[in-house]
Amino acid sequence: MHKPSLEKPILEAHNISKSYEINSSSYFSIKKETIRVIKKLSLSINKGESFGIIGESGCGKSTLARILIGLDTPDNGKIFIHNQNKVNLSSIEINKLIQYVFQNPIASLNPRLTIQDSLLTPIKSFFNYDYEKSIHLIYEMLDSVGIPKTSLKKYPHEFSGGQAQRICIARALLAKPEILILDEPVSALDVSIQAQILELLVKIKKEFNLTYIFISHDLAVVKNFCDRVSVMYYGDIVEDGDTNKIFKNPLHPYTKLLVEVSPTKNKKIQSDDFGELPNMTKPPNGCLFYSRCRRRNEICYKKSPTQINKGGRFVACNFPL
Ligand SMILES: Nc1ncnc2c1ncn2[C@@H]1O[C@H](COP(=O)(O)OP(=O)(O)OP(=O)(O)O)[C@@H](O)[C@H]1O
Ligand SMILES: [Mg+2]
Repeated sequence: MHKPSLEKPILEAHNISKSYEINSSSYFSIKKETIRVIKKLSLSINKGESFGIIGESGCGKSTLARILIGLDTPDNGKIFIHNQNKVNLSSIEINKLIQYVFQNPIASLNPRLTIQDSLLTPIKSFFNYDYEKSIHLIYEMLDSVGIPKTSLKKYPHEFSGGQAQRICIARALLAKPEILILDEPVSALDVSIQAQILELLVKIKKEFNLTYIFISHDLAVVKNFCDRVSVMYYGDIVEDGDTNKIFKNPLHPYTKLLVEVSPTKNKKIQSDDFGELPNMTKPPNGCLFYSRCRRRNEICYKKSPTQINKGGRFVACNFPL
């Protein structure tokens, strides 16, 4: 979904699609099927904003993030960073512009490497720094995220989830990127630690002049943290707009359900909260939300909604609220 803006987009995705081949097993056989994960998805992110992506587990948030950073390639579509087509940029150039903070902090650090070695590795690939200059950069970033230098000789298992997340954020900052993709940056953490990490993210955003893509299933966090939100439903963005407007006055029935279902902090949005999921190995022709929608009618069964502009906001629904 595309939001025209007077501000300059720092990152744009146009009609991104992605499917995977999976093994599906029945009692008698195992066969290969194609699962459609992202479908002609477009988005535009402005410099300096905190852009939220929300949606339930399995809707394709991390897949989209991996495609944006270049860890996965889309089947179709184009990505532009600062108006440059991403295919014309080297992986080093991309990684110097955009970094990814993974969903599970401890698992994303190599258990066999000390923190120092984990942090030296990316510096070697980004910059031609000698050891002393590299260590100086590491000290600087650890200081920014509140981790003492004495931690450098330790291994990942010696840290709490919150400390590990701070280290992962420092590792992402080493590249001096402009954009950070934060994939569920606090959902693996205790509530009290979540607040500290969110505070840290606010601080470093100012300090390093960052743009955030903030992926979460936790609506309470997104509501407080993001300027703009896109609501993702099985591979497509069904609504996007200013965070306050989305939460106060959702236009898509799915957004309304999300807002109603997850008032409790950190409640993971689950499919069984509201009915049957679409089968993405055989996606229906009509609206993907049909089987769960309270406003559905026969048009929705046949017609896949296209995005419409309703009062300057974008929604993909045949009968928006
Ligand atoms: N490499 C892959 N091969 C096959 N299927 C995949 C692959 N990567 C993702 N998928 C499938 O794509 C769908 C979306 O996965 P993804 O991890 O992007 O969801 P998500 O929205 O990040 O979920 P969560 O909130 O649980 O992190 C899932 O059905 C997943 O099984
Ligand atoms: Mg994910």
